[in-house]
Amino acid sequence: MSTRVPSVLITGASRGIGRGLALAMLERGWQVEATTTSLKVLQQKEPALLTSGISWHELDQGRQPAVAQFIHTLKTRQSRFQMLVNNAGIYSGEPDRIFAVNFFGLVQLTSGVQALLPENALIANISSGMGSLDQFSKKAVKELLRPDLELHQLEKLCQAYCQDRQFSAHHGWPGNPYSASKAALNAYSRIANRDRQHSGQRVISICPGWVKTDMGGPAAPRSIPTAISGILDTILHSALTGGQFYRDGRPIPW
Ligand SMILES: NC(=O)c1ccc[n+]([C@@H]2O[C@H](COP(=O)([O-])OP(=O)(O)OC[C@H]3O[C@@H](n4cnc5c(N)ncnc54)[C@H](OP(=O)(O)O)[C@@H]3O)[C@@H](O)[C@H]2O)c1
Repeated sequence: MSTRVPSVLITGASRGIGRGLALAMLERGWQVEATTTSLKVLQQKEPALLTSGISWHELDQGRQPAVAQFIHTLKTRQSRFQMLVNNAGIYSGEPDRIFAVNFFGLVQLTSGVQALLPENALIANISSGMGSLDQFSKKAVKELLRPDLELHQLEKLCQAYCQDRQFSAHHGWPGNPYSASKAALNAYSRIANRDRQHSGQRVISICPGWVKTDMGGPAAPRSIPTAISGILDTILHSALTGGQFYRDGRPIPW
C-alpha cells in the first residue's frame, strides 16, 4: 500500500530530541505519529504539541504488555510507516529497566511493526557514542561483531548482563548499563539490517552527539536544532547504507 504523504513513527517525542525531530519532520510535510509515556502529562506540560498535527499514542516501551498493546493498536488501524525512528530511551535506573526500555522494548516494537513497514523502509535507532565498542574487551567485541550473531544470542547476553552483577567484569562489557544497552542496540541494528536485506528495509544506528536535553543536561555542547539537523542529514539521505552507525550524515566506527 502506498500513501502520498510519507509517514514516520517516532518513539519518545514528548521532549528533547524526539520532540525536535517530530516537529521538524512535520514541517517537511511528513505525517508524524509519535509516542509519549503519558498523554496527561503532555497535556499539562505542552498542550500545543497535542494539537500540532502530530498523532499521539501512549507507550511505556519498558513494559512488554504495553508494547504488545501498542503494536495491536497500530495493526488494527492499518497504519503504514515509511520510517520508524526508535528514539525513546533512558539513562538512569536499574540495569533491567534500562535494558527493558533501550533494548528489549525497542526490539519488540520493531519486530512487531515489521508488516507495517514497506519494502524500502528505514529503521533508525537513536543510539549513542557511549555505546562504543571501545569500552568492551577484545573477546566481547569479537562476539558482538560476529556476522552470524543471531538475535536470540544477543538477547541472552543482555539478559545475563541484567541478571548477573558480575557479568560485565567477567565478560568484558562496560559497567555503565546505559553504555551496554546502546552497544546492544547497535548490535541489533547490524543483525536486523542483515535479516531484513531480502525486504530492502535498512536498519541503522545514529549518534546524535551530546545534546542539551533532560538527558544530556545543561553542560552538553550541542543544541537540539544542531542534533536534529545531523539526524535529518542522515535519515533523509537517499544514499544511506543499512547496517551502519551514523553521526551528522557520516558513518562512524562502532
Ligand atoms: N541527549 C544526549 O546527549 C544524547 C546523547 C546520545 C544519545 N541520546 C539518545 O537520544 C534519545 C533521546 O534522548 P533525549 O536526550 O532527547 O532524552 P530525554 O530528553 O530524556 O527524552 C527522552 C524521551 O524518551 C521517552 N521515554 C522515556 N522513557 C520511556 C519509556 N519507558 N517508554 C517510552 N518512551 C520513553 C520520554 O518520554 P516521556 O516524556 O513521556 O517520559 C522522552 O520523550 C535517547 O535514546 C538517548 O539515549 C541522547
